[in-house]
Amino acid sequence: MKENKTFYITTPIYYPSAAPHIGHCYTTVACDSIARFKRIQGYDVMFLTGTDEHGMKIEQKAKEAGVTPKEYVDPIVANFKRLWETMNISYDRYIRTTDDYHVKSVQKIFKTLYDKGHIYKGEYTGKYCTPCESFWTESQLDENGCCPDCHRPVTDAHEEAYFLKVSDFADKIEEFLTKTDYLSPKSRVNEMINNFIKPGLEDLCVSRTSFTWGVPVEFDPKHVVYVWVDALSNYISALGYENDKYDDFAKYWPADMHMTAKEIVRFHSIIWPIMLMMLDLPLPKHLYGHGWINFNGQKMSKSIGNVIDPFVLAERYGSDSVRYQILRDMPYGSDSNFSNEIMIGRINTDLANGFGNLLSRTVAMVDKYFGGTLPENREEGDFDSDLKEMAQGLAHSVEKLMDEAKLSLALTEIMNVVSRANKYIDETTPWILAKDPAKSARLATVLYNLLDTLRICSALLAPFMPAIMPKALEQIGAKESDTEYDKLSVFGVLPADVTVKKGDALFPRIDVNAEIDYLNSIIGTKQEENSDSKQEKPAAKVEDEDLDKAGLISIDQFAQVKLRTAQVLACEKVAKSNKLLKFQLDDGRGGRQIVSGIAKWYKPEDLIGKKIIFVANLTPAKLCGELSEGMILSCDCGDSVKILTVDPEVPNGSAVK
Ligand code: MSP
Repeated sequence: MKENKTFYITTPIYYPSAAPHIGHCYTTVACDSIARFKRIQGYDVMFLTGTDEHGMKIEQKAKEAGVTPKEYVDPIVANFKRLWETMNISYDRYIRTTDDYHVKSVQKIFKTLYDKGHIYKGEYTGKYCTPCESFWTESQLDENGCCPDCHRPVTDAHEEAYFLKVSDFADKIEEFLTKTDYLSPKSRVNEMINNFIKPGLEDLCVSRTSFTWGVPVEFDPKHVVYVWVDALSNYISALGYENDKYDDFAKYWPADMHMTAKEIVRFHSIIWPIMLMMLDLPLPKHLYGHGWINFNGQKMSKSIGNVIDPFVLAERYGSDSVRYQILRDMPYGSDSNFSNEIMIGRINTDLANGFGNLLSRTVAMVDKYFGGTLPENREEGDFDSDLKEMAQGLAHSVEKLMDEAKLSLALTEIMNVVSRANKYIDETTPWILAKDPAKSARLATVLYNLLDTLRICSALLAPFMPAIMPKALEQIGAKESDTEYDKLSVFGVLPADVTVKKGDALFPRIDVNAEIDYLNSIIGTKQEENSDSKQEKPAAKVEDEDLDKAGLISIDQFAQVKLRTAQVLACEKVAKSNKLLKFQLDDGRGGRQIVSGIAKWYKPEDLIGKKIIFVANLTPAKLCGELSEGMILSCDCGDSVKILTVDPEVPNGSAVK
């Protein structure tokens, strides 16, 4: 370990308000890869993640579920932890904002800010977005008077409240953002200055009295601390700031890297540094605000219903492939788009055809031509120096890109060397060299160069793909000491008489069509469908025998299907289909469109006004070009199909349990 070299990296702490989705994985997988990279470089790393468990939204959801907020969040937090295990996340510490030590720290921080005159009591009037837990002024709302972040309706809020005097720090924060390289990409600095600082920083309301699920203000307990003040404090409470649980604040603070997605950069680049300035604490060194993983052009979100289940993907392809794809396809500073096709394409191109092919061809040739152990005689030849130079220079460029959180570019650099090595095989034609015993030394040299390139590439890929790369290194006969960081910039580290160990293909090629059909049948992520969708066909009659085959599901699995009531406002036939009807529904949440394959059994006008039940969290699909945001429940009655209707008095949008 390098003496005194510490590296403190944090993800945001996640709201345990719903099951985690692939979008949530991005920051955590990115931070994990950086943390692992820093560890191999010899840093003493502290990698923090956790859950942000207070707030009105959680209180409301718990109430709806008929449980206490803690009972509500506990299983969701367990599910987040299970996901991080599945994705091989090597966090060093996990913080829950409901942990006692954190609550104590937040209370002390609030009191200190109050005692120093940075917090004062006043009256709050304004707008509040419950899903985002954000206060907004009238002028900050979007063109429809909705939340400027998530564009959902906001509510009026009036109450006695404490305020944080952020206005006093407008100049200091502007200077911090413009004069340091804290916030990247740089475009986000302009965004913050133009959208939030230049229009005038308004004091921030930092306490609430209208709900109780939060950290009580110690000296005025009818107030609970605003969730963002509570949440941001996690980065220091988790190190033992103002609590006795941990004792490494002096060692790790200031953080080397905070990473978040773009919509919460505002809190991390303005509010958080101001809080720290007020507390006279050193400021974190870097904040990286990445883009979103979108699906069909929209941010993946539970309430939009377009989430992709990372457990399913990790089970099918292995967590390493999923980690690779989400990191590789997120361009620096912008959004990425997810689809099953993109994921499988990336796995096939880069991992199966690129890296996997290089590894299996090389190991197979050493096995076939030399019985698994290379002879020591060598003969240099054309193309060698080009490959060696690229491989030797790789660690240096990857290191620089990792420091800048440019993970996709770092992976591209590594894959460029993999491609160069695959090309080197075509250029040097080992199968022709193998035919001539006089060329044995040249053949051994070519294969050695390939193995040593693989050593460098696999070791540099290990932070991104920690499950598979140790197996790749084992196959090429590399010992642990061959992958020490300093040796990754040196060519020729493997012993001259290295012995390979042939093994299974580490990234088998995926049959795209078969796989897409399968995925669509289980998670329904088909983006464009020209014929009637399978998921929209009325369910086949289920016999008892089929039930046995299908197996039983747990109450948790059932609870994942969100059923709600809605009223049919309009209904018409879909032009290109004789099976589909298009419904406009009042779902109690601003309306949605669903396409259903029941045209054969109903006239559209007979359905208007009916109250129905629909699946609210099905991934949107296009059926004959029409967007369908869910599925209407119906029964197979032998010769016909009947939709399920509910009592007209049931309010639209009610949850069906
Ligand atoms: N609780 C706050 C963070 C407090 S940090 C002091 C929060 N939680 S969150 O669960 O809503 O989001 C956690 C992180 O996941 C955020 O950075 C968020 O932007 C990110 N993502 C959620 N959906 C995402 C995508 N679809 N794509 C990429 N990141 C996404 O915000």
